[in-house]
Amino acid sequence: MTEPFTIAIDGPAAAGKGTISKAVAAHFNMAHLDTGLLYRAVGARMLSGEDAVTAARALVASDLDNDSLRTQAVAQAASQVAVIAEVRAALLDFQRAFARRAGGAVLDGRDIGTVICPQAEIKLFVTASAEVRAKRRYDELVQRGQPADLDAVTADVKARDARDMDRAEAPLRPADDAVLIDTSDKTIDEAVAAAIAAVKKVKG
Ligand code: DC
Repeated sequence: MTEPFTIAIDGPAAAGKGTISKAVAAHFNMAHLDTGLLYRAVGARMLSGEDAVTAARALVASDLDNDSLRTQAVAQAASQVAVIAEVRAALLDFQRAFARRAGGAVLDGRDIGTVICPQAEIKLFVTASAEVRAKRRYDELVQRGQPADLDAVTADVKARDARDMDRAEAPLRPADDAVLIDTSDKTIDEAVAAAIAAVKKVKG
């Protein structure tokens, strides 16, 4: 068994974090946790009438494996429950244990480098302009056959950015020692290559 090695990847919605995280995890043969799914699962339960804190405390890994967590409504609900300190506290131990598993782990989210794993061996902050991110999210929705309107998606992205960055609890921001990767003018392959190169500098 190899030693734990944590790769923390943070950034706003639709910056390319998910794609980059999956590719980095595959490249280094590590486990991957999309921590947004934790907040989405809690958000989905809140939408169906449950108390968010109770839902967060009762969350189990199998709750994350659900396509219905991918909708815009659930994304907004996730961003709402994510401001609640007790929700974040309830999800902490699971994320930290995942981060220190043998063989290494990639965690992506908003506060991995700043709060969940401040000791991560490498931290990346993946970003892109709000317009580029909204266009990507819109294209994704269209591709999945979901109804989409670019202005509405742009407004959604900006609202979620504001809520994620302005909240008191674990706001979205780069850790002081994070490597910044702006994907606005990068292809997926270029962005993935930049992320892998940054990890290799530390990991060898
Ligand atoms: O990454 P995502 O779009 O699936 O995240 C959904 C919401 O969950 C996001 O708007 C804010 C919240 N979130 C968070 O507060 N902290 C994380 N580590 C991951 C997500």
